[in-house]
Amino acid sequence: MRILGIETSCDETSAAVVEETGDAARPWAIRSNIVASQTTIHREWGGVVPELASRQHLRDICGVVDRALDEAATTWSDLGAVAVTQGPGLVGSLLVGVSFAKAAAAAANLPLVAVHHLAGHIESLVLQNGELPLPEIALVVSGGHTSLYLVDRPGHYELLSRTRDDAAGEAYDKVAKLLGLGYPGGPVIDRLSKSGDDRAIRLPGTRLTHADRNAPHLKGDLDFSFSGLKTAVLRLVREREGAGAAPLAEREIADICASFQRTVVTTLVDRAFDAARRFGAKSIGVAGGVSANSRLRADLMHHGREREMPTFVPSLALSTDNAAMIAAAGLRKLRAGVLAPADMNADPALAL
Ligand code: KG4
Ligand code: ZN
Repeated sequence: MRILGIETSCDETSAAVVEETGDAARPWAIRSNIVASQTTIHREWGGVVPELASRQHLRDICGVVDRALDEAATTWSDLGAVAVTQGPGLVGSLLVGVSFAKAAAAAANLPLVAVHHLAGHIESLVLQNGELPLPEIALVVSGGHTSLYLVDRPGHYELLSRTRDDAAGEAYDKVAKLLGLGYPGGPVIDRLSKSGDDRAIRLPGTRLTHADRNAPHLKGDLDFSFSGLKTAVLRLVREREGAGAAPLAEREIADICASFQRTVVTTLVDRAFDAARRFGAKSIGVAGGVSANSRLRADLMHHGREREMPTFVPSLALSTDNAAMIAAAGLRKLRAGVLAPADMNADPALAL
């Protein structure tokens, strides 16, 4: 069985064809995964402009789906289902994918599956590595989310903690912006950090001990917070650049990037391994745009080896937003018998 996946939750228009392999240990294979990125459009504005994003999705969606089918040597009649990101994300962007998927499924007489974007990121780990040893601690780190889940059986995601303010990717983007490095911030900070001293500047890490008023059912001590770190960098830059001083030198920028990155990565890795120990996990998986970060990948693998904990990340192409992960999560739901009702709608604040 082959499924068509569609993802338009933010600033990538993506379509993919994913196939079941029949191998329980490695259940899915990618036949195609086309991503049309809007980065060059939004870069000019320093971040994603929702109205521009939805208009560009409209222009791109038909061509992207055609190419995904073409590259997969697949016709509509070869497909067994259509899966689409229902949320969370930008409502105008989500609507393009959801409307397209509903229309296509109806026209081709195919079942429709509604997928949660973060379930997609979590399943990108399985798409890349095969089924992970369970229970698994899954850390999703993206531009919009920083959340820890416990996966105790396939397709079941229990939220353990999340960020109280900024997501890790958002912190990268904001820090890059205030250093004048452009959008998106993650890749450029990652690159500049390589030539910086990661101990040059002392920045605050966070460990929350109090419960979250907005989520009192969660204990809260595995929660994340990145807005204080961003403000600390902002203060530092203002101090250095204030009172007619010369603009920051390249060397200083590299040091700030490296120190910021060390703080973020250390927090993410510590919290994930802490959760794994507490919940007796047999594996750790880290997914989402920030899992493309070179230091995060290296530190995770290092800690995994040291603590004899199997640790997984997706390939770079599957780390950032793509439709193959949505197709994979869609197959999981389809096999569990969960189809989208006829009145399914985009939900910008969909809960997992
Ligand atoms: O998962 P994603 O593609 O979209 C969302 O669902 O948000 O994640 C995008 C985020 C952006 O904030 C971007 O700056 C960050 O992922 N990112 C990185 C790297 N590549 C992308 N952050 C750190 N290091 C990277 N190499
Ligand atoms: Zn994402």
